[in-house]
Amino acid sequence: MCGLVGYTGNRVASEVLIKGLARLEYRGYDSAGVACVRGGELAVVRRVGKLVNLRTALDGAPIVSTVGIGHTRWATHGRPSEENAHPHCDCTGRIALVHNGIIENYLELRDELAAAGHILRSETDTEAIVHLVESYYDGDLAQAVAKSIRRLEGSYALAVIHLDDPGTIVAARRDSPLIIGTANGENIVASDIPAVLEYTREVVVLNDGQIAIVTPDDVRVVDVNLEPVEPEMMHVEWDLDAAEKGGYEDFMLKEIHEQPTALRETLRGRFVDGEIELSELKMTPSEVSAIDRVFIIACGTSFHAGLVAKNLIERWARIPVEVQVSSEFRYNDPIVDDETLVVAITQSGETADTLAGVREARERGAKVIAITNVVGSRVTRESDGVIYTHAGPEIGVAATKTFTAQIAALNVLALKLAQAKGTLGSEEVERIWLELSTLPDVVEAILANTGDLEACAEEYVDAASSLFLGRGIGVPVAMEGALKLKEISYIHAEAYAAGEMKHGPIALITDEVPVVVVATQGHTYEKVVSNIQEVRARGAQVIAVATAGDDEIRQHAEHVLMVPRTSEALSAIPATVPLQLLSYHIAKKRGCNVDQPRNLAKSVTVE
Ligand code: AGP
Repeated sequence: MCGLVGYTGNRVASEVLIKGLARLEYRGYDSAGVACVRGGELAVVRRVGKLVNLRTALDGAPIVSTVGIGHTRWATHGRPSEENAHPHCDCTGRIALVHNGIIENYLELRDELAAAGHILRSETDTEAIVHLVESYYDGDLAQAVAKSIRRLEGSYALAVIHLDDPGTIVAARRDSPLIIGTANGENIVASDIPAVLEYTREVVVLNDGQIAIVTPDDVRVVDVNLEPVEPEMMHVEWDLDAAEKGGYEDFMLKEIHEQPTALRETLRGRFVDGEIELSELKMTPSEVSAIDRVFIIACGTSFHAGLVAKNLIERWARIPVEVQVSSEFRYNDPIVDDETLVVAITQSGETADTLAGVREARERGAKVIAITNVVGSRVTRESDGVIYTHAGPEIGVAATKTFTAQIAALNVLALKLAQAKGTLGSEEVERIWLELSTLPDVVEAILANTGDLEACAEEYVDAASSLFLGRGIGVPVAMEGALKLKEISYIHAEAYAAGEMKHGPIALITDEVPVVVVATQGHTYEKVVSNIQEVRARGAQVIAVATAGDDEIRQHAEHVLMVPRTSEALSAIPATVPLQLLSYHIAKKRGCNVDQPRNLAKSVTVE
């Protein structure tokens, strides 16, 4: 998830671009750059690292220009570096382009362009686009962009400038946001509203498949055939803070609602011609099928994702999986060797305990695969292979969209192992993949219909303690629900395998202790219901997460949070979302700072 800005008007373009990029820095911040039209040439300045590095460079050497494009990057392809930073230029140096999204067929496009003599210098998918535009350009930039985007598979929001047409910006989008702020004698293209609010509240919302031709006095919107389209106008009421949060009250709530997109982007391109696509493993099919043991190391929420992965890998690939918190792994003399696949799950890629575990595992000869949300993070440089989640930057300290994106990536890994081992046939893999692909829509449906969740939160605002129960794949979901509640509302919460209650924890039950139960449909559903009856018989107030259509559960719970039916193996993501929202609303009603809870850091870089 990157941020892009384009400006054409009567101001110093680079100043508008830098200020706009600063407003979008929450969308990505590993490198940044601008390209401006100046005296018959493109002035391009790019810097790796935070935006301040680019600002310093421009302060030292201002660019006198009234039109340009800028970009702040959240790397998806190619590590953070000046070479990989946007804008990217064509061979002639007369076209510059910035892009937000993921181009799935970029490797074949790069090969085609290189074969045609184009020189591509970066590792990015984006650079292929600007050379495509160059190859189609015959004097009409909009036409060249229209032809280029027809070749793209994947998501994009892009802005392009050409020296032949110095005051014009051509913009286009599919599955990535793009707007145009319109003002008197100036117009601003941007990924998101915060970048334009200083200049205007009148915005053109570009829709998928549309192209905008932007000059200082005009914004024309056309379709891919360059046929005129009536622009969709919007008047922005938000203030700047609300705009950075997309209109949500907190980054955490915004990120909960970004989960459908995070899932789509993480799953994008992962199933090609009947095969699970996971080339990042960097293992031959025979190496993958030789794996006879998996060891997962992670901390906190990522550890809970690892427990979900254990359930999936053992269910589908029949490979034994051990999951340990990273802080224990290194000191437990782990039984790990060159036949072991170690999977390190860390959304930040910087967690000291997990990095130490990676080093320990590699010293013992294991192959290490990292699952992370941050391209170029330390874990990516210390692992043999990396599987990225594409959730975009997660600002809220409490992990939400990165957790469900991790589970999506781990589903893909489990299917890959099963396919290599032959424990799942190609038809079964495809059937599971097709259902997995519906999860973004399933989560969207949950977010669109949260039922009496806020009323439920109201009832338990003053609870001193709570229990979260589940069975099977519901246990790590219960653990994640308990962690969410305690880390943002400061209410003590513990998770247990539901069958464990009678072995001691049931002594905690009173009518003051709400019990949240993951009771979605599965082969242990009846057992879960009997566990609910056990705690209710002792006065517990029960909140059940259940499957739509389950009429029985309502007689066993004070509140029921319904989620759409999925197969048991894929139920972890849907079941998690109501628990994220429940914790969020309880914490808000307690006046807690959900984005920056006390005592916590987003990335624990110390042991
Ligand atoms: C989760 O809400 C917490 N913020 C924390 O437990 C986190 O999951 C843990 O510190 C691991 O972080 P990582 O995924 O970046 O390694």
